[in-house]
Amino acid sequence: MTRVAILISGGGSNMLALVGDMRQGGYAEPVLVAANDPLAGGLAKAAALGIPTAAVDHRPFGRDREGFEAALAAHIDAAKPDILCLAGFMRILTPGFIARYQGRMLNIHPSLLPKYPGLHTHARALAAGDSHAGCTVHEVTADLDAGPILGQARVPILPGDTEATLATRVLEEEHRLYPAVLRRFVQGDRTPVYLD
Ligand code: GRF
Repeated sequence: MTRVAILISGGGSNMLALVGDMRQGGYAEPVLVAANDPLAGGLAKAAALGIPTAAVDHRPFGRDREGFEAALAAHIDAAKPDILCLAGFMRILTPGFIARYQGRMLNIHPSLLPKYPGLHTHARALAAGDSHAGCTVHEVTADLDAGPILGQARVPILPGDTEATLATRVLEEEHRLYPAVLRRFVQGDRTPVYLD
């Protein structure tokens, strides 16, 4: 059974969507949920679902990114995952960490990449007057938010939309897109999934 580790920083709604789909579809099993913040809400949710968890607080490491990542990788490697899913994980990873998992590490980003890599994606789409927004699942490479695209979902931007209303609409699509991409990726199929 394909073993999947999920990295989170916050509430973990994408993690819950992935875990629910894996267990419903039986195509993979979640073997670890790890966070860079011991207080991440998603950790308690994962534990309640019987999934092993780990937390490595990045703050004591200061600028020592490698030190933080080595501590995190120890927990990841102990779980022996086949695939790593970044799901609301808010730390930038060094090329050294990425090299360890490249080719089997996915991320979901709340924009229609290549538009709006980085932060504040919804505010930027609204400010640009875009007609649509959305989310992208991509393979993680050393180029931030720029790896091969594995799936995208689009939502309309509606009159009166705020950053919050748009974020909510996109997040719903993230929860549909990420499991659909993971199912395909587990089969070794890297054909992009497009949800409209
Ligand atoms: C959300 O902003 C989502 O768009 C992005 O990460 C943030 C938190 O996601 N992918 P989650 O609820 O922790 O999965």
